[in-house]
Amino acid sequence: MLGPVLLAAAGSERVRRLVSSTPLTRPVVDRFVAGEELPDALDASRTLLSQGLTVTLDRLGESVTDPLQAIRNRDGYLELVDELAAAGVAERAELSVKLSAFGQALPDGHDIAHRNVARVVAAAAAAGTAVTLDMEDHTTVDSTLAVHEALRAEHPETGAVLQSYLFRTEDDARRLAATGARVRLVKGAYREPAEVAFQRKVEVDLAYVRCLRLLMTGEGYPMVATHDPRLVAVAEELAKRGGRAFDAYEFQMLYGIRDAEQRRLAAQGHRVRVYVPYGGDWYGYFMRRLAERPANLAFFARSLATR
Ligand code: FDA
Repeated sequence: MLGPVLLAAAGSERVRRLVSSTPLTRPVVDRFVAGEELPDALDASRTLLSQGLTVTLDRLGESVTDPLQAIRNRDGYLELVDELAAAGVAERAELSVKLSAFGQALPDGHDIAHRNVARVVAAAAAAGTAVTLDMEDHTTVDSTLAVHEALRAEHPETGAVLQSYLFRTEDDARRLAATGARVRLVKGAYREPAEVAFQRKVEVDLAYVRCLRLLMTGEGYPMVATHDPRLVAVAEELAKRGGRAFDAYEFQMLYGIRDAEQRRLAAQGHRVRVYVPYGGDWYGYFMRRLAERPANLAFFARSLATR
């Protein structure tokens, strides 16, 4: 029951100020976030790349209500692309972008976010890498998938994220699989109402398997983003049965979660990409990680109590 409370707190400005202002939060945040600055993210990425993993970098930020902040976020990503190219790692380091960081929630936000992300996608392509559009709450899905489709006309390597907890997702997976898209499949991390999303974990997991089957038998490139050992095993089995080579799909996991499993899969020859978030705007991301696993909250509470 704690999950929904934490997800509600993720949207509260008052709780944000409280949690962000205590220095005691920092050590727990550090488990999930590579650091506040771009060089921190580059250091973390270099370490992961040296372990045979690949990365996708998330410059943290979301739910922007100021057009200038949307521009600053876009420019932050453009700087990131330049730094990845300069470090010679762009081929193994992709980008993950939230359209709400690029202005999606502003009036005319769809077009603003589209324009902003198009600049980043073009710069990424010129540097030899690609962008995946993260998926946020269900009210943004139509807009985000429409931007994804438009971007793919020029940059077919641009990825989308589908969330198995949404009722609509099987249809989206079927459609995207037929168009050969790169699709990251996740369970979903937002608080969604019963009108649009499965509420029980078992239903979300079963939907994940159905969508995975569609993606694995389709024309696209499935990005299997889960830490769930049963779903990792199902993905391996489906890939084997469908005759998919190791370079025709990949596993993805979040920075700081199941690191040993990331390395184990990579050692077996799988492509494994670690999602590396960095930046000062970590609150929403951090609260979603707490909500996913009550044990993380206990870890957080213990670290507060022992100081
Ligand atoms: P589940 O939550 O059932 O966890 C399975 C096991 O993994 C747990 O038992 C535990 O061992 C470990 N685990 C999972 N979460 C943990 C945590 N926070 N801390 C410690 N251990 C944990 N969501 C979304 O809505 N939009 C998006 O764009 C993305 N993008 C994204 C990218 C990538 C690369 C990943 C891996 C995930 C996302 N997500 C996401 C988040 C996703 O929707 C989901 O909330 C988390 O991955 C947790 O779900 P699992 O599939 O890992 O299963």
